[in-house]
Amino acid sequence: MEWGMRNRLAQLIQPDGRALFLPIDHGYFQGPTRKLEQPGRTLEPLLPYADAVMLTRGVLRSSVDPTRSKPIILRVSGGTSVIGDLSNEGIITSIKEAIRLNASAVSLSIFVGSEHEHQTLLNLSRLVDEAEDYGIPVMAVTAVGKELERREARYLALCCRIAAELGARIVKTYYCPDFERVVQGCPVPVVIAGGPKVDTEYEVFEFVHDGLQKGAIGVNLGRNIWQNDHPVAMIRALRAIIHDNATPEEAQEIYNALKQAES
Ligand code: R5P
Repeated sequence: MEWGMRNRLAQLIQPDGRALFLPIDHGYFQGPTRKLEQPGRTLEPLLPYADAVMLTRGVLRSSVDPTRSKPIILRVSGGTSVIGDLSNEGIITSIKEAIRLNASAVSLSIFVGSEHEHQTLLNLSRLVDEAEDYGIPVMAVTAVGKELERREARYLALCCRIAAELGARIVKTYYCPDFERVVQGCPVPVVIAGGPKVDTEYEVFEFVHDGLQKGAIGVNLGRNIWQNDHPVAMIRALRAIIHDNATPEEAQEIYNALKQAES
């Protein structure tokens, strides 16, 4: 592997082999998502605890201080909105722009099983061809929107394996029952997204912990962090699971203690 590729992957995946990515890219198809109306404000207190931030170029330029940042995973697919068909994505940002913005990786969604499956898989293949020329890893995002209704191992294993076969260096997917099948069938590192906010913190701690035991290297978790009433407590508790091997119970204790301090 080339030096540049290795260096960028090392910025994302920490020496312990784990990673906590914080996505704030939701506005690219959802508009001003709850608690992400002002992305700079949402990000600021969380930034010290994230290993990398996933976002679009517009939010990066407008809302992130270039002198005080973390490695960037630049979302480069889009062109759709919640009003239309989410799967009809194209590539919205060039590799030249990713280099100009000093991105450590680029990310793109694939929509396996959707009307635009073929188009989004070709988007991924083309992006990999271009990004690899410059030593930039591609993170594939599987199963967003309607496809998320199919949160089962058989479907997610299919998506992840296809993403890896087409050249993604990291794959983002969802936790599901029999999650080990998803990870075992994917020859590149897998990170877990959260999806819509769940009811309790403990549920998040449990699925992240279990996902790691089953082979995921970490998370790319957004709403379940920044839509929480105590987002700093949440990200720090998750960090303890990911980097300090805390149990869900220990994470809950950390969350409870920090929540007191935050309020
Ligand atoms: C969705 O397309 C976005 O790319 C998000 O980055 C991804 O879904 C992870 O965020 P969340 O944990 O909120 O689902």
